[in-house]
Amino acid sequence: MTVPAAFKLLLLAGLLAGVFAQDFEDNAAQSSKEDVAESERGEAEARLFHKQAENAVYNFTTILVDSIMDVTQGRIEVREGVRVEGKYWYSNGVEKRTVVYVSDENGYRVISDTTELLAEKPNFDANGRISVHTNIAGQDFSYTISADDIARYKEVAERKARV
Ligand SMILES: *[C@@H]1O[C@H](CO)[C@@H](O)[C@H](O)[C@H]1NC(C)=O
Repeated sequence: MTVPAAFKLLLLAGLLAGVFAQDFEDNAAQSSKEDVAESERGEAEARLFHKQAENAVYNFTTILVDSIMDVTQGRIEVREGVRVEGKYWYSNGVEKRTVVYVSDENGYRVISDTTELLAEKPNFDANGRISVHTNIAGQDFSYTISADDIARYKEVAERKARV
């Protein structure tokens, strides 16, 4: 290789490196602009979310009592702005667990978490009933279903399946 040829190659390599470096800087500038836009969008969303949270008001209750399987389950929650107070529980005939919680500007906290013993074993009752109660924003909705009802529905479903 002659000296001028080697020099040209070096020059070409230098130029290419320069082009790539410029390209890289452009990309970096572009993505940092995008990062700023992204974080501004994130802050705006957080402000909106906080404003919505401050105005949020709701409450609901849902309670299930199943004396056929000796099971209960329920939850009550009341929200006023950023503060939420609630309680949920469930039992299986042997023990019942109840958790009381609160969530506010200091985060979510469990106030109490208790388990009480109910009996040695569940008290199944083939003639029992299942009652479901909900109240959402002051609207009550309840129904009860007995073991007989379930047997009847099953019969109807089986009859339908045969035809
Ligand atoms: C639950 O919501 C209803 C309807 O919005 C309201 O009348 C009731 O006072 C609320 N209850 C509680 C405990 O905040």
